[in-house]
Amino acid sequence: MVTLRPGPVTIGGVTLKNHLILAAGILGTTGASLDRMLRMGAGGVVTKSIGPEPKDGHAGPCLVVLNGGILNAMGLPNPSRDFVSEIETLAKKPVIVSIYGGTPEEFAMVAEWFKGTAAGIELNLSCPHAEGYGSALGTDPDLVTSCTRAVSRLGMPTWIKLTPNVTDITAIGKAAEEGGASAIVAINTVKAMRISTGLKRPVLGNRFGGLSGKPIFPIAVRCVYELYEACKVPIIGCGGISTAKDVVEMMMAGASAVQIGSAVHADVRIFETITKSLYSANGVPADGIIGCAHD
Ligand code: FUM
Repeated sequence: MVTLRPGPVTIGGVTLKNHLILAAGILGTTGASLDRMLRMGAGGVVTKSIGPEPKDGHAGPCLVVLNGGILNAMGLPNPSRDFVSEIETLAKKPVIVSIYGGTPEEFAMVAEWFKGTAAGIELNLSCPHAEGYGSALGTDPDLVTSCTRAVSRLGMPTWIKLTPNVTDITAIGKAAEEGGASAIVAINTVKAMRISTGLKRPVLGNRFGGLSGKPIFPIAVRCVYELYEACKVPIIGCGGISTAKDVVEMMMAGASAVQIGSAVHADVRIFETITKSLYSANGVPADGIIGCAHD
């Protein structure tokens, strides 16, 4: 397998220690756990999504592990503005704050709280199970453009996390680009559900949730491939990545970096594990393989 040259990279306005980023929602609720993942080999980390008001989240069960994947409907639980002090000590580190809101104004307000602390902002326009938030806005190209613009005009690196739960993801990617996105992240979870045949009712408290992990990897590769042909901003691949070979495949589809989430559940040392196989002193520059499957 091809290996990459190690070293820092700047993607979407954020300088990362390597191409591997902790995805939003996994170990991202405290400054200590984010710092730990940076010390354990993540090139950058994304926080749990923070919104305009504190939120308890959906009634449980909120998460089930199934057939190698994870189905969740957490419901965006978060402490809102109190999270600013949680990550203050990480101000010089590659910490990207994931935020959500119900309007462009709410996105701008939450982003402003993190000016001077966050290395960048990731807009959650893609959670598939939070009424009035996430994909409720992120499936409408006009709203994607206006939410993106509301944050990008603040001058912070602005990443937009896209939902795969649309007919044409390139229309959403182009809308983010029009709003001034520094990078797009593809993809968030795939809307899904399971039913308990014993209880004769949905397994999740919220009925519907989002599927992540290995089962969605081919969907993520397809989305990144399509976006690479339609958009100019860097793409950060996300969805079911768990090996160095997955990282290389995502890059060949068009990703400049990747985010890893569900695989951290199975192996908290996943960043070190992947780094050992992905990088070598005689590795090629990443630019040599990004998008090469399109040639
Ligand atoms: O419910 C949650 O907190 C998940 C968010 C997401 O999928 O973006």
